[in-house]
Amino acid sequence: MLDIVFFQLFPYMAVSVMLVESIRRYRQRRFSYSSLSSQFLEGDRLFLGSVPWHYGILWVLTGHFVAFLFPRKILWFNSVPARLYILESTALIGGLLTLIGLINLIVRRFGNPRIRAVTSPMDVVILLVLLIQVSLGVYIALTLRWGSNWFAIILAPYLQSLFLLKPNINLLVPLPLAVKLHIVGAFVFLAVLPFSRLVHILVVPWQYIWRPPQVVIWNRHPGQD
Ligand code: HEM
Repeated sequence: MLDIVFFQLFPYMAVSVMLVESIRRYRQRRFSYSSLSSQFLEGDRLFLGSVPWHYGILWVLTGHFVAFLFPRKILWFNSVPARLYILESTALIGGLLTLIGLINLIVRRFGNPRIRAVTSPMDVVILLVLLIQVSLGVYIALTLRWGSNWFAIILAPYLQSLFLLKPNINLLVPLPLAVKLHIVGAFVFLAVLPFSRLVHILVVPWQYIWRPPQVVIWNRHPGQD
């Protein structure tokens, strides 16, 4: 019964909350779509947290995404042990980088009185969700080998069944608790995302890729100062 609630119903509830709140916030408070940078309050520790966090999480989530889209290719790639070890160890390095960056960001936020003063209850919630989620991911990678293989066999088909609106949880039922918590954690993250400062992910400035690097507009008329 709990499996049905958490893996069959909750994912759709979480995604619905995410979509409805993202659209509502964008329409009603468009200028609140921001990471609310605190760089001007403190920069050094931010660098030590933000850089490993962003590189790590981009690497890890790209890995999740590729395994979700191309599970057969992952199994083919992993069929040579050397390639499996390379894939798993680079994923783990990404996970550790993410965790170190996140811990630095948390220490900075709560250790520095100036940053603490601009910290909202939602910042605490999102940092806690991420800390649990990333720690569980690293724990799974370290203890339940080899994650990329059984992700491709069990989790990718489950996620695809959710996506096709025909959730099939049969394969999930016997999975260890840490994996189940990691899956639920992902949907909790999606549900709280639009309420937090991480909403900036949804408006990544993609136009930076194709727009000119700098737009210069001259207001001055020659000969006048
Ligand atoms: C907010 C979303 C998520 C975050 C932040 C996250 C984070 C992480 C991190 C940091 C790791 C450790 C690095 C690694 O070895 O790959 C990891 C591993 C893993 N995650 Fe996630 N994850 C998320 C969603 C999911 C989802 C939706 C699933 C499956 C349904 C999943 C399944 C796994 C598995 C199986 C591993 C172990 C990979 C391995 O050992 O190679 N994760 N995750």
